[in-house]
Amino acid sequence: MICRQQIRHGGFVETDNRLEIRTVASELAQATFAEDVRAGLSRTPKALPPRYFYDALGSTLFEAICLLSEYYLTRAEREILERHAADIIGLVGSPLEIVEFGSGSGEKTRLLFDAALDRQTSLRYLPVDISESALRASADAILDVYPALRISGFVSDYDGAIAAMRSLDRTGIRRLALFLGSNIGNLDEAAACGFLSGVRATLEPGDALLLGADLRKDEATLVDAYDDPLGVTAAFNLNLLGRINRELGGNFDLRSFSHVASWDAGEGCIRMHLASSADQFVRIDALDLEIHFSRGETIHTEDSRKYDLTSIDRLAAATGFERSRTWTDSRERFSSNLLVVRS
Ligand code: AVI
Repeated sequence: MICRQQIRHGGFVETDNRLEIRTVASELAQATFAEDVRAGLSRTPKALPPRYFYDALGSTLFEAICLLSEYYLTRAEREILERHAADIIGLVGSPLEIVEFGSGSGEKTRLLFDAALDRQTSLRYLPVDISESALRASADAILDVYPALRISGFVSDYDGAIAAMRSLDRTGIRRLALFLGSNIGNLDEAAACGFLSGVRATLEPGDALLLGADLRKDEATLVDAYDDPLGVTAAFNLNLLGRINRELGGNFDLRSFSHVASWDAGEGCIRMHLASSADQFVRIDALDLEIHFSRGETIHTEDSRKYDLTSIDRLAAATGFERSRTWTDSRERFSSNLLVVRS
């Protein structure tokens, strides 16, 4: 039986035997897509927030990116978890529960479920995802395969889930939080610190955060990963303009913009832009806005920060953590870092 009831933090919780889904309304007022597009395209230099990549088409294109041989991040992290999931679970200790921020399909997380269920008979999994359909689809698939699992999912942004999670009941159980896929790389330094401090507030001494972080490496490998010859990343980037056309009545000619990915060695990040190949005006009906682009003018769409162990240590120290172990893949391209709560 499924029941639905109102909860604190302005949302709903739906429960059946093994699945509970909370829809949490964030306390922070989120700007809408329309407001962000107006602000981002009216400023100089132009910029759009990367969170808008992930509509249905964008999410599918991102899944395709993860299959590209040039985009090594997904496979490298999977290799680490295949080899070291048991060590990771062993270091945190059992019984534990697993929280995952930005859970997506939860594919790689299954390696950690397997390792945890080797040491305990049941497991609670708390995935956090902004997309209800993605969360439900992955929860259903996981529950089919793991009869010993219970899922308490949060349809929420990270801040909302962090606030809601603090009031959850938990005694005598360790918590392992996951932030995989180098999602941390898409946050600037202030946002990364804010997010990790929030995660820290949901943890107690003895708990840990497993942080996936892509490592700095030669420019050619990095640029290839973000500018693949098949053009999937270009399509992912251009889809932002397609989304403005679809949802806001824009008339962007996608053929007159091109995808640019470049390595900023000083900042240690890949920067993605869309460059206008012509002097042109674009109209967005829903905003009653006309925007001018000069030839070569760009829209900044994403930064993807790359780390070394010193920068991870700095981030950990600033947010109440300490790096206790790091595993890398066999080609040392990607790192999985176990950050423990500093007492
Ligand atoms: C989701 N995030 C970690 C990806 C990254 O590598 O920064 C997004 C992405 N952008 C282009 N390719 C993949």
